[in-house]
Amino acid sequence: GTRKFFVGGNHKLNGNRQSLHTLIESLNNATIPSSDIVEVVISPPSIYLETAQKAVGPRIQVAAQNCYSEAKGAFTGEIAAEMIKDIGNQWVILGHSERRKIFGESGELIAKKLKHAIEVGLGVIFCIGEQLADRELNQTDAVISSQMKDILGSVPDWSKVVVAYEPVWAIGTGKVASPQQAQDAHHFIREWLASNVSKEVATNTRIIYGGSVSASNCNDLAKEADVDGFLVGGASLIANDFITIISSAK
Ligand code: G3H
Repeated sequence: GTRKFFVGGNHKLNGNRQSLHTLIESLNNATIPSSDIVEVVISPPSIYLETAQKAVGPRIQVAAQNCYSEAKGAFTGEIAAEMIKDIGNQWVILGHSERRKIFGESGELIAKKLKHAIEVGLGVIFCIGEQLADRELNQTDAVISSQMKDILGSVPDWSKVVVAYEPVWAIGTGKVASPQQAQDAHHFIREWLASNVSKEVATNTRIIYGGSVSASNCNDLAKEADVDGFLVGGASLIANDFITIISSAK
């Protein structure tokens, strides 16, 4: 297809040096589809980003799970896109629902972070998705539109953005979206891009699905026309499961 499949593994707040090295070694030694077929990114906690960068082979890229909107200064506890870039990582995850919900990040802050990260040269995995109550009230499309609109004026280069559709009710619950539910949301996001950005950006932007993706449900999801990959949480910590998910690339 026009879009290269993209599989990210978001480790969240899990693992240690030992488990990360074991995982990376398994990924480095795995037989996976070629770099023309699938792009693979892992995202360990920030304290392990540099050790991960040094350990990964040429097929695996590394993403930070978050970064701040400023290059430097009095922002205790934060990390800068410049620092992520400095240690050789190529990606950052922004707008994850856990950042929005648990840490109270606003759409406005996420847009500032995204703009700065892209200006620095990082790719951004930009996460959006509705909560269960939104879906039950038929507000899924409205929530998606509003989260996309947040970043509309803040994207210097759309080729640096991967949109991750992650319905909050599917994250860490074992309750995966059906292939049709995922396809409908992804199609809506692509149409939104066509109307609000350009047809070219709509055609070229990867829209990946996240939320209880597993070795057993990835193939059915991957068959959908607008599903261009996955952002995997729990299953990305288990080498064989993550390798199976990478191998669902079409
Ligand atoms: O970023 C990943 C998502 O939050 C999905 O997590 O696969 O554990 O449901 P999960």
